[in-house]
Amino acid sequence: MSEPVIVTDESGIRVIRMNRPEKKNALTQPMYAAMTAALAEANASAATRCVIVAGAAGAFCAGNDIGDFQKRAESGFESMSVEFLYALARNKKPLVAAVGGLAVGIGTTMLLHCDYVVAAADATFSTPFVKLGIIPEAASSLLGPLRLGHARAFELLVMGHPLSADAARAAGLVNAVVDAAAVEATALAAAREIAGLPAGAVAAARQLMRGRSEDVVARIGTETEIFKERLGSDEARAAFAAFFARKK
Ligand code: COA
Repeated sequence: MSEPVIVTDESGIRVIRMNRPEKKNALTQPMYAAMTAALAEANASAATRCVIVAGAAGAFCAGNDIGDFQKRAESGFESMSVEFLYALARNKKPLVAAVGGLAVGIGTTMLLHCDYVVAAADATFSTPFVKLGIIPEAASSLLGPLRLGHARAFELLVMGHPLSADAARAAGLVNAVVDAAAVEATALAAAREIAGLPAGAVAAARQLMRGRSEDVVARIGTETEIFKERLGSDEARAAFAAFFARKK
């Protein structure tokens, strides 16, 4: 069986690829653990100058696995997904995203932690958290309004209205919109450009621009407490059951 997360390194660029195409790269707890470890290694390696996060064929990421949400609602909260959110918040390496298709939930909110985002022209960005009875995570309740402004962030994060690739670019979430076939090459070109800059200056500038990671980390903690409660709510249980009943 192929690995659900594939990590490769070449010329100072680490690619972390979500690889569960049959489920549109929806993330499971082991996938979060693998991605957290891959980011930690990248942070510990002076040779790694830039990290790309990408998805396997056709999708970027359909968000957290909803079956996993159901399990966590029944049997307690596993922390690997939360560890990944903290790893994103504390990451010190430039992060480029190659969004080759739909980006749902964490597939969209992780982009708020990226420094350069390339999207396919037909990619869509959505965060149906509230429709699922849960709340926005990954510090998106803090970073979303900062990046998009409250009005657009509310429409995305609370009302769950999707953004097209062009709208995401206009909103400041995406840097470049290209043909689907060119997404990976464009992301790689950006990563190579970043990797070619003086690493110390990139790191210092990036840290200044991203501000205090403590605030982001604290917000993830607050969101996680509320998220845990919401996972067990009647609203969330009904929404998860409805997702799996939709094809019956
Ligand atoms: N969790 C678990 N399984 C998921 C999933 C998720 N987040 N997203 C997709 N899948 C599964 C589907 O159940 C389906 O599995 P099946 O073939 O065994 O039935 C498979 O991936 C393909 O998805 P499908 O719905 O058939 O594809 P689509 O192109 O019609 O729709 C989505 C794709 C992503 C729009 C749709 O699957 C969806 O809405 N997924 C849920 C997204 C979501 O709410 N994520 C949580 C955000 S907080």
